[in-house]
Amino acid sequence: MKTTISFSSPAQLETESLVAVVLNETDPSQAEKHKDAKPQLKLATDDPAVQAATSDLLASGELSGKPFEINLLHKPAGLKAKRLLLVSGGSAKKFSSYELRRIAGAAVRAVKSRGIRSLAFISPSQVPAEEGAAAIVEGALIGNFDPDYYRSDRKDQKIDELTILIGGHTDKAAVEKAAKEAEIIGESQNFVRDLVNEPSNRMTPTILADRARKMCQEVGLKCEVYGPDKIKEMKMGAFWSVAQGSDEPPALIVMKYEPSGAPEKPVLGLVGKGITFDTGGISIKPADGMEKMKYDMAGGATMIGTMRAVALLKPKVKVIGIVCATENMPSGKAQKPGDVQIAMSGKSIEIINTDAEGRLVMADGLCYARQLGATHLVDAATLTGAVVVALGYAHAGVFANDDAIFERFHKANQQAGEKMWRLPLDEEYKDQIRSSIADIMNTGGRWGGAINAAMFLQEFAEDTPWIHLDIAGTAWMEEQKPWIAKGPSGIALRSLVEFVRSFAT
Ligand code: BES
Ligand code: MN
Ligand code: ZN
Repeated sequence: MKTTISFSSPAQLETESLVAVVLNETDPSQAEKHKDAKPQLKLATDDPAVQAATSDLLASGELSGKPFEINLLHKPAGLKAKRLLLVSGGSAKKFSSYELRRIAGAAVRAVKSRGIRSLAFISPSQVPAEEGAAAIVEGALIGNFDPDYYRSDRKDQKIDELTILIGGHTDKAAVEKAAKEAEIIGESQNFVRDLVNEPSNRMTPTILADRARKMCQEVGLKCEVYGPDKIKEMKMGAFWSVAQGSDEPPALIVMKYEPSGAPEKPVLGLVGKGITFDTGGISIKPADGMEKMKYDMAGGATMIGTMRAVALLKPKVKVIGIVCATENMPSGKAQKPGDVQIAMSGKSIEIINTDAEGRLVMADGLCYARQLGATHLVDAATLTGAVVVALGYAHAGVFANDDAIFERFHKANQQAGEKMWRLPLDEEYKDQIRSSIADIMNTGGRWGGAINAAMFLQEFAEDTPWIHLDIAGTAWMEEQKPWIAKGPSGIALRSLVEFVRSFAT
């Protein structure tokens, strides 16, 4: 998708489709009292020609003003555009770049489903120009992605050209820079979605490592991939215990971004869960819904995508990306409940359930990141069904062993416009994972399952400031939304990129 920033007047622009945002100014308390009253709608642009072309429609009472409502006018009077698409942004009061990102995605999906390949989006005056352009580009790229690659009747409808119309007097170079950076972020997010979308026969640990290596070559990152021998040699007993049951060899993917001029410290360590298929192992999962477990490498894919974005955005801070990639399979070589494993850090782990494999591979990933000199850790993993019970599909779970790093992450997260919610890590929970024959066990019973898993990981982050993201409920869209297709979401990449940038000197 080619993006152009333009200062032309919307009325003068020749385009296949001009997009304007409609905002609802109705006072909610008034709406309650007068249920039959027409909603008070206004355009999010001062352009008189666009206002004139839409005034009758907005006053008609035919529009509800609810978010994502779409109306399409052909040959709009007084405009050079062939079509004018109105997308409702919902409440004018609440409207921010968060809503704008989604509205842009919805506009792209509405336009491309009609077979149109270009659109011009009028950036709403309610959001500052640079922030608005970035949100529109990110949202448009997210909306432009569809994962139905393997359908013979795939239409491959997509937008090739996006124009963003900026009103008022703004520094064009600054807006273009914001749009360019947003493009890197949006494309990296789609790169993650692409990886996660692949089924396990087409995304083995070896293939994931190859994709990471190829990406690293393209953007100039160092990349090393270690196989079974090196994993055993480094005494990654927790990681290997999961990998040992599979015929597919595991891969430890290590990507390094070391820009010249970056200070020695901090060194950020990003660790991702890369289970390319999770059958549960000997504690095998029920057949119902097991096919979804191809997405169990989403945390790992997120770290590969984040390294891509970081390499292209070039902040002056060192970052290491680590992905522990393996299948979790039952077999004659697979580990069994009751087995005791020694992790790389030396801690002994009693395996209670072989389906709690994510925390095992991550334990060694976190330990290795510290060994490579990481001063701050962030991990992302589709770790527990329990986080879905706690937070549903809306928020990812965030855990932190340190309030300062949480505050920093939280800020990045707000800026990125992703929904995440902090869950606790109190000492009390530690009892849940105490083992009678080893240091810890890999499950902690049914209650507080997402916390038990995080408590387990905390044992391996030790005293390094650390953020853990449980993205089991958010890495996969269970249904399509106006702004995004059903399937992999690419959650957490934007927050991670902002987090990394917050350290740049
Ligand atoms: N990959 C799963 C997490 C998961 C489960 C995501 C269900 C989405 C839906 C993870 O490896 C897992 O199996 N976790 C177990 C842990 C349990 C055995 C302690 C779970 O959540 O059921
Ligand atoms: Mn599992
Ligand atoms: Zn898993």
